Amino acid sequence: MEHSCYLFLLLLGFKWCAFAQQVTGMPGFAEECMWRNGSRVCSDPCSSYTVLDQPWRSTSYGKGTNCDSDKRGWYRFVGLGGERMPESCVPIYRCNTDAPMWLNGSHPIQNAGIVTRVACAHWNENCCLWSTTVQVKACVGGYYVYKLEGTPVCSLTYCTDPNYTESPCAQCGVDEECQLVNGVWGCSCSQGFNNSDISSLEPQLECGANEIKVSLQKCILNQLGFQDVVMYLKDDRCAGFEEQKNATVVSVVTPTQGGWCGTQLTKNGTHAIYSNTLYLGNGTVIRGDEVKINFQCSYPLDMEISLATAIQPIVSSINISVGGSGLFTVKMALYRDSNYTSPYEGSMAVLSTEANLYVGVMVTSGDMSRFVLLLDSCYATPTKNATGSLKYFIIQNSCPNTRDSTILVPENGVASEAKFSLQVFRFVGNHNLVYLHCQCRLCDIHTEQCRPHCSGGESRRAAAAETGYVLRLGPVVQRGSEYLAGAASSHASLGAWMIALASAVLVFFLHPFA
Ligand SMILES: *[C@@H]1O[C@H](CO)[C@@H](O)[C@H](O)[C@H]1NC(C)=O
Ligand SMILES: *[C@@H]1O[C@H](CO)[C@@H](O)[C@H](O)[C@H]1NC(C)=O
Ligand SMILES: *[C@@H]1O[C@H](CO)[C@@H](O)[C@H](O)[C@H]1NC(C)=O
Ligand SMILES: *[C@@H]1O[C@H](CO)[C@@H](O)[C@H](O)[C@H]1NC(C)=O
Ligand SMILES: *[C@@H]1O[C@H](CO)[C@@H](O)[C@H](O)[C@H]1NC(C)=O
Ligand SMILES: *[C@@H]1O[C@H](CO)[C@@H](O)[C@H](O)[C@H]1NC(C)=O
Ligand SMILES: *[C@@H]1O[C@H](CO)[C@@H](O)[C@H](O)[C@H]1NC(C)=O
Ligand SMILES: *[C@@H]1O[C@H](CO)[C@@H](O)[C@H](O)[C@H]1NC(C)=O
Ligand SMILES: *[C@@H]1O[C@H](CO)[C@@H](O)[C@H](O)[C@H]1NC(C)=O
Ligand SMILES: *[C@@H]1O[C@H](CO)[C@@H](O)[C@H](O)[C@H]1NC(C)=O
Repeated sequence: MEHSCYLFLLLLGFKWCAFAQQVTGMPGFAEECMWRNGSRVCSDPCSSYTVLDQPWRSTSYGKGTNCDSDKRGWYRFVGLGGERMPESCVPIYRCNTDAPMWLNGSHPIQNAGIVTRVACAHWNENCCLWSTTVQVKACVGGYYVYKLEGTPVCSLTYCTDPNYTESPCAQCGVDEECQLVNGVWGCSCSQGFNNSDISSLEPQLECGANEIKVSLQKCILNQLGFQDVVMYLKDDRCAGFEEQKNATVVSVVTPTQGGWCGTQLTKNGTHAIYSNTLYLGNGTVIRGDEVKINFQCSYPLDMEISLATAIQPIVSSINISVGGSGLFTVKMALYRDSNYTSPYEGSMAVLSTEANLYVGVMVTSGDMSRFVLLLDSCYATPTKNATGSLKYFIIQNSCPNTRDSTILVPENGVASEAKFSLQVFRFVGNHNLVYLHCQCRLCDIHTEQCRPHCSGGESRRAAAAETGYVLRLGPVVQRGSEYLAGAASSHASLGAWMIALASAVLVFFLHPFA
């Protein structure tokens, strides 16, 4: 039984070991059963016990007259006196008694069920002059319960270990034991494992929006013989570290950005894929002699990921502060096609006259659970002056301009992003330079009707005042005059249109949420 359990431990971990015992029907495994009025009643001692909270049970407390001869049943020790029994002999005249009682044996691990131990009483220079059996169970939550059977004589007291308070081992992993290190109880890797199967490392990969993290179980590294583990990525300045909040693992992190920590970014049309290699060494590392673990995270390309993975995308951004709901960042960018996944990059973009311009607006940070992004209006102007007299409306009162049949608004007022497209030629008209302005706001779905009603061509929404946040992109420059971009040339020629990104100047109006 012992041996097969050990095999289970090696192969599948403690849980399975415990399970194996459970299914073989060992009596009194995790619950205590007794006959009451002719029927068998079982209960879990972890949830039905008596609390003993006397601080004088502590082994640091001196002489006294307490006797525990009446303590029969399941008990849990709590408080500053200590939360479990000491596992080593306690000097006499401690714990508010004459002969202190301690547990001769180790406490069980979690999932080990109810185990039987011997409690010894120290007296007359014999650490175990009297003894009695005690049943012990380790409970979820990191505490222990004990079934006491009184004491053989008086005055004997069940002691507690004052160093063991506040469930110091509640967070121990399955391959860890509760151990005293430098006078402090904590989790340490279980010893005695021998593991040569590197696949048991099972690296945990977390693909986050801002960072990618690979974590390895410290104890498994230990079992594999990595006494003094060194880990790092392709760029060895990105090295492993011990997690503050999860001491059972060591991790290494790279930003979700190509070029950092040696992380490589590749795109395959539908996904952005970040890949890197984790190197594991033992003590001082000789390159080439390490364990290598390749990993990759792939992110489906959407408007935002495409922007994040583009080189110098044409984008404009603003921060919107909504009282009580924090700061939101809104970005507007120009895309090449109706997939809205390939933004124009660089300082200029080429568009043929027939080409459609795809504009995406998205909220890239902030808690959007209450809000959707609503474009109140979008228009083109021939100059930077957004309030000038000449405006070509693309979206007005949240609805598309119905006089231009090339305008499509696939998304607006329904999510954290909005999109529209139109044929370049239509709005550019006779002007060489065109600037795009979009007035947007965050619409509170709990208090407002955010989805625009545009069926009759007319919005039911009252004409929006010139308030809100305006994102601006441009100018759109006609080919031939691109060298004059920004100089407001009136020279016109046919061919492709160029869009250049002027500095993303923001026109900032009054706060719309008065
Ligand atoms: C056993 O039965 C007696 C009489 O029916 C009842 O008074 C008593 O409470 C029962 N005890 C338990 C432990 O259920
Ligand atoms: C504790 O128990 C072990 C095994 O039962 C026994 O060999 C040992 O002598 C005991 N310790 C003391 C101090 O009596
Ligand atoms: C408790 O910890 C102290 C050091 O902090 C140590 O000297 C002492 O032996 C420990 N007591 C027990 C019962 O382990
Ligand atoms: C661990 O495994 C190696 C090789 O199989 C063996 O030589 C060694 O004795 C084992 N150690 C333990 C503690 O089992
Ligand atoms: C790591 O180094 C220690 C001591 O330097 C050695 O005992 C152990 O076998 C090494 N482990 C591996 C996996 O090389
Ligand atoms: C620590 O990390 C391991 C592996 O990722 C996980 O299984 C465990 O639940 C984590 N523990 C805590 C307390 O978060
Ligand atoms: C792109 O890569 C992802 C993730 O690796 C994969 O699921 C997808 O099928 C690939 N798409 C193409 C078009 O190759
Ligand atoms: C928005 O806020 C972020 C963080 O507070 C800041 O880094 C960024 O420069 C701001 N952007 C603009 C356009 O103000
Ligand atoms: C949009 O993406 C799909 C694959 O998801 C591709 O088949 C299609 O050609 C793309 N459309 C354009 C206009 O590039
Ligand atoms: C923008 O145009 C309006 C109306 O033509 C004018 O009153 C205003 O001064 C202009 N602003 C700038 C900065 O040129």
